[in-house]
Amino acid sequence: MGEETALCARVRAALPPERYLHSLGTMRLARELALSYGADPEEAAVAGLVHDLARPLPAPRLLKAAADFGILIGQVERALPVLLHAPVGAELARRHLGVSSPAVLRAVSLHATLGPDPSRLDQVVYIADKAEPSRSFPGVEELRALLRASLERAVLRALEMTLFCLLERRSPIHPATLEGWNWLVARLGSKGGGTGDAARDEAGPGEVPGGGAPGAEV
Ligand SMILES: [Fe+2]
Ligand SMILES: [Fe+2]
Repeated sequence: MGEETALCARVRAALPPERYLHSLGTMRLARELALSYGADPEEAAVAGLVHDLARPLPAPRLLKAAADFGILIGQVERALPVLLHAPVGAELARRHLGVSSPAVLRAVSLHATLGPDPSRLDQVVYIADKAEPSRSFPGVEELRALLRASLERAVLRALEMTLFCLLERRSPIHPATLEGWNWLVARLGSKGGGTGDAARDEAGPGEVPGGGAPGAEV
């Protein structure tokens, strides 16, 4: 996919200018990370571009769209309807933008929470959304540095920042986020334990100082 395509024009028409710039940044970083970490760069670019298609919709419209599309609305989505912009956006991309790849649609659907057994594409889109150049929350530079060495370690750290932030706010935590966390901890091992499946063969950075949270933006 080139930089300026018909799909870009349609996404630009659907989003406020700042959200479109964030989407372009996510598209470019997702493509770059896919090339580095063995995901499909075209799928990553499309997912990055369309991931926030439903982000401008207010909570009542997200709840209505989710109900119309048959998307599960659980206790956490009722408390935080903004989380629905991810699965609703995937369905809008399928219906209105001709995005048909199940892998792309899944990555879009999981970009706000991650989920169980995340694919490389899921992880690439999740972290590109957090670390693209227009993001500026405390801790983003740490994520960018981790991304130079390990996709999984960067995603784990982003999840850790998010969980800290949610706990501090006494906010509900989506089960899919915990499933993604548990999957990555099983892969990479606990702190000091290093017994995870991938811990033995992955040369990642050591302990990193605590950072901020990715903030309320999802
Ligand atoms: Fe985003
Ligand atoms: Fe989002």
